[in-house]
Amino acid sequence: MKLTKDFLDMKDQGKKIVMVTAYDYPSARQVEQAEVDMILVGDSLGNVVLGYDSTIPVTMEDMIHHAKAVKRGARNTFIVVDMPFMSYHLSVRDTLLNGARLIQETGAHAVKVEGADGVLSHIEALVKAGIPVVSHLGLTPQSAAVLGGYKVQGKDGAAARNMIKDAKRCQEAGAFALVLECIPKQLAEEISARLAIPTIGIGAGVDTDGQVLVYHDILTYGVDRVAKFVKPYANVNEPIALGLQAYVSEVRNKLFPDDQYSFSMKKEELEALNE
Ligand code: KIV
Ligand code: NA
Repeated sequence: MKLTKDFLDMKDQGKKIVMVTAYDYPSARQVEQAEVDMILVGDSLGNVVLGYDSTIPVTMEDMIHHAKAVKRGARNTFIVVDMPFMSYHLSVRDTLLNGARLIQETGAHAVKVEGADGVLSHIEALVKAGIPVVSHLGLTPQSAAVLGGYKVQGKDGAAARNMIKDAKRCQEAGAFALVLECIPKQLAEEISARLAIPTIGIGAGVDTDGQVLVYHDILTYGVDRVAKFVKPYANVNEPIALGLQAYVSEVRNKLFPDDQYSFSMKKEELEALNE
């Protein structure tokens, strides 16, 4: 299993870091079998697994519940868990208690937090306490309401300069990696070149040190509309719909279960029933 130091080495060696989200036992097993470098138990589970229309309603309990299942399915892969909305803002003490729960109760290896302003001292405290931290800049879904929706960030010079500054501040605070979401590829390349820690892009072009995508988006599983930056590598909605339709139809038409899927008793035993 790779550890934080290995991800720094991968950046230095120019080897891309492959990260994908997982939220339960089967998806964790599958992504481990696919030999990804890192799993993210993203709070995107609010959208793709729990059916909310943002990540705001996701709780500590939700994250712990899902991270435990992921750990059971991927014992040999580095696991990062998102700290949910408002779990790392109130005070350093609250942040430490929440960060500790996410690691201790689930067996995950690191936490991820969005943003820089107001969060840097919390990143520092987590790292000092022994909890590795991944930062997340650009489109940060937990603050989408403040950013003015889900749109590309850092397009103009001032915003781009600010993001470069924030990226450096996250690194200085002790983050060992940085997720960059939905920013121009040129800005992502610039940030990646200026940082010692690896960047992991989603909608940030090919020049980040790694890539991350949401499991359900890669596989077109349960989702129908995806962002521009998502490449659908498979569409499992189709076989799932076909399988379910066939089951429904065979039950209604008394075609299932036929003898192949049924148990029988001997004739004598059957006759004995009527004695
Ligand atoms: O929650 C999530 O899936 C994420 C990734 C999109 C980076 O934070
Ligand atoms: Na997230």
